[in-house]
Amino acid sequence: MNIDPDDMILDFSAGTGRNALLMHKYLSGNGEILGLEISEQMIAQFRKKTESFSNINIVNQRIDQPFSLDKKYDKVFISFVFHGFPFEIQKNILSNARGALKEDGEFIMLDFNEFVTDETPLYFRIPFRIVECRYAFEYVERNWKDIMSEFGFGHFKEQLFFHNHLRLLIAKG
Ligand SMILES: C[S@@+](CC[C@H](N)C(=O)[O-])C[C@H]1O[C@@H](n2cnc3c(N)ncnc32)[C@H](O)[C@@H]1O
Repeated sequence: MNIDPDDMILDFSAGTGRNALLMHKYLSGNGEILGLEISEQMIAQFRKKTESFSNINIVNQRIDQPFSLDKKYDKVFISFVFHGFPFEIQKNILSNARGALKEDGEFIMLDFNEFVTDETPLYFRIPFRIVECRYAFEYVERNWKDIMSEFGFGHFKEQLFFHNHLRLLIAKG
């Protein structure tokens, strides 16, 4: 993610706070992380995990509907959330990310890579078919760099993991 010590990071659908703690290791006291989450259970876990750090916070906020925040962010991070929404909602999320970022901020998405499901090896395809919702099947077959370009993102960088089935995609705003 190339976290800068003073980065202001927005964690879309922040979950338990595990990712926030990992990102926090790279921040100075001037950097900040704000998690957005809708599950009160997750929010409680996040608060418990991160209570010793005053520069990590979380609010109850949907990421799929328009919202406004007091500050603009250097990075919007989203991990294993995006593939679970319908396409029209994914567009809202991209638009919300663009709106929350500073001019040259980065949208960073950790999720499945793009692939044709039927062409993936069985050890991946079988659990993917059993576990994932129908939106995930549509998600993996779309060209996200092209779609993100329509929302003002560019200068894409990516890192692939797990035999290229997972991707960290970095898009400059
Ligand atoms: C699979 S978890 C991922 C959590 C975390 N990002 C991670 O990588 O560990 C999905 C999270 O998205 C949250 N979520 C689902 N819909 C949401 C929405 N519309 N707005 C904000 N958060 C949402 C869920 O409550 C859950 O914590």
